[in-house]
Amino acid sequence: MKMINKLFFLVALLALAPNITKGQTNAYSKDAEINTKVEALLQKMTLEEKVGQMNQYNGFWDVTGPGPTDGNAKLKYEHLKSGLVGSMLNVRGTKDVRAVQKIAVEETRLGIPLIIGFDVIHGYKTLSPIPLAEAASWDLEAIKSSAAVAASEASASGINWTFGPMVDISRDPRWGRVMEGGGEDPFLGSEIARARVTGFQGTDLSSPSTIAACAKHFAAYGFSQSGKEYNTVDIGLSTLYNVVLPPFKAASDIGVKTMMNGFNDLNGVPATGNEFLLRDLLKGKWNFKGFVVSDWASIKEMETWGYAKNRKHAAKLAANAGSDLDMESHAYINELKTLVAEGAVKESLINDAVRRILTVKYELGLFDDPYKYCDETREKEVVNSKANHDAVLDMAKKSIVLLKNENQLLPLKKQGQKIALIGGLASDKNSPLGSWRIASDDNTAVSVLEGMQKYKGNTLVFEKGADVSVGKTSFTEEVKVNMTDKSGFKAAIKVAKKSDVVVMVLGEHGFQSGEGRSRTSIGLPGVQQELLEAVYAVNKNIVLVLNNGRPLTINWASKHIPAIVEAWQLGSQTGNAVAQVLYGDYNPSGKLPMTFPRNVGQIPIYYNHKNTGRPINETPENPDFVFWSHYSDVENTPLYPFGHGLSYTKFEYNNIKVSKATFGMNESVEVSFEIKNTGALKGKEVAQLYIRDIQASVTRPVKELKGFKLLELNPGESKTINFALTKSELGFYNNQGEFVLEPGNFEVFVGGSSYTTLKSKFELVSK
Ligand code: BGC
Repeated sequence: MKMINKLFFLVALLALAPNITKGQTNAYSKDAEINTKVEALLQKMTLEEKVGQMNQYNGFWDVTGPGPTDGNAKLKYEHLKSGLVGSMLNVRGTKDVRAVQKIAVEETRLGIPLIIGFDVIHGYKTLSPIPLAEAASWDLEAIKSSAAVAASEASASGINWTFGPMVDISRDPRWGRVMEGGGEDPFLGSEIARARVTGFQGTDLSSPSTIAACAKHFAAYGFSQSGKEYNTVDIGLSTLYNVVLPPFKAASDIGVKTMMNGFNDLNGVPATGNEFLLRDLLKGKWNFKGFVVSDWASIKEMETWGYAKNRKHAAKLAANAGSDLDMESHAYINELKTLVAEGAVKESLINDAVRRILTVKYELGLFDDPYKYCDETREKEVVNSKANHDAVLDMAKKSIVLLKNENQLLPLKKQGQKIALIGGLASDKNSPLGSWRIASDDNTAVSVLEGMQKYKGNTLVFEKGADVSVGKTSFTEEVKVNMTDKSGFKAAIKVAKKSDVVVMVLGEHGFQSGEGRSRTSIGLPGVQQELLEAVYAVNKNIVLVLNNGRPLTINWASKHIPAIVEAWQLGSQTGNAVAQVLYGDYNPSGKLPMTFPRNVGQIPIYYNHKNTGRPINETPENPDFVFWSHYSDVENTPLYPFGHGLSYTKFEYNNIKVSKATFGMNESVEVSFEIKNTGALKGKEVAQLYIRDIQASVTRPVKELKGFKLLELNPGESKTINFALTKSELGFYNNQGEFVLEPGNFEVFVGGSSYTTLKSKFELVSK
């Protein structure tokens, strides 16, 4: 009977698709085979076992003893043994994963393996730069490889599913979680989403070194009001469709296996119980085939939101809306069976959820070999390998953004210089690891001090000056900022006085961004600004190296300090990457993925804003005139715009051409331009293309990124770059959620940042 089913599926599929290629045939037949297996297994499952598959527990395994001891852990253990747990998170390492997997596979009635989830956000043990920093590389191949390295380490340690990538677009640097994402732009964000999903999942999910990815947090969490964590989200449809959803759609289209809910509500309905988002859009219109996991306790939190009456009601709302797996609310395991019996949740919806979860488990190959990620020899070989450290160093260098470089203070001369290195962060080996690095070992980053010490031709003197924080820092606790201790200032000033150049490493501690780390003032924390000014008073030759997980307001520094390097939190190889850039062994090419505001009052400030009826980019003739869109106390422009980033060489853009003046709606618009390296060094540049749809049925932004190319040019070399714009770049979502292309006039801009003015134009006409 089983065989007949299988054959039937195959024949039916092949009949439906007569022209498919051999590769596709294999994929279809594999899918069909998995479908058959899932259906067969589903038939055997009791309702309770099905609900069990929809239940995810945090790790409780007591590695030092025979079993869990406290009440909650004991209950989880009993559930695991009874086949009532489908997934676990935060169990890691081959030994521990094997132990829990063994119970699921060998002690339960049906032996269904667990899917093991973990936050592999920017590496597992070997850490790459925080995701926002990686986004600054605009290097999709590098980002993809970085995710693949993370997947290889995580999978070698028992993990087969990452809660990443976070694809939340955000325009608010007060929100600490911007460090986890790809920045403010939906186009760049979508490209990065695709790169990360492909990096994690590879081309074959059943390979032991790839893992299932999870696009999160669906949806709009990045628009939490006032940048405050876990807050409400109230946004219009135009922003939802055109800004928030595109990276999720990109992830879904490329085959991301899972998505995660957000903690936020969206226009009054919590994301976790949001039928419109999950059922209508994701699983309906987008035809997403994977499963949806709740965020940590987000089902239960619907009660706290005042949306669900109690846990049972929350379970009903979440299951009906389309949340398939309950992360740590304990709502499904306790309530779903009764809800089905009462007819409040249809068993067909339970079947749908379980089908999705089992499918991913089959695709991972867990049913063939549940211990495939538990090979201790591979774990030893892969985790923290030299190759992985080389890879994250490469990524770290690509992530650095040169914000300012007056009088070519950088790169530093390699010989005969007296260099003062100042700042508590310069010798810190923990902070550069950034936030979200649960599996990594503390104090394992190469510090900037260590990186710079490798260059022996200069005299290097280090003085802390001041620490950023006081006491121990941790992932779960607020960083205590040093607001008073200036005892190190004197020594720092003394060495600065006697030096040719001062390198100051200042910024946020690695745990000052990430989840739960919203800030209302985003300047240099603590006494660091004072330290900067005190050192500047005795030596103006300062290179400021910034460490941060979000854009900072560094107005004073931007005005006074001649060279500023945005070095984020670059992970395990931070110090080597920074030193190689400072000394010119690597020519920086990063570009900002998020706008740097002048002050917090400008937030949200983003390049792809609307024109308004009284345009903010056109200062009135009479400077005292007030009735236009502006502030009376600060300029409209940001401190550093989206897409900004310098090189040690210079690039010039010329000769922008659009192949015709008028195009039909189905034609592709060919745009070309020249880019020349006019400096003295070889360098890389991210050439950016923006469009403006002058008039449409829904107001459109003054600029929208629609293409970019990373290229390398020798001194004096020039290249012609071509872009083809089609409906997917020129269209937009209207307020009904339909993607439309409208005739009319467009402008097209090219350049090295979103502030470029080099432009041409064309018209789309309907024939
Ligand atoms: C975060 C998620 C994360 C989950 C599991 C939550 O607090 O919002 O992004 O994946 O915890 O660690």
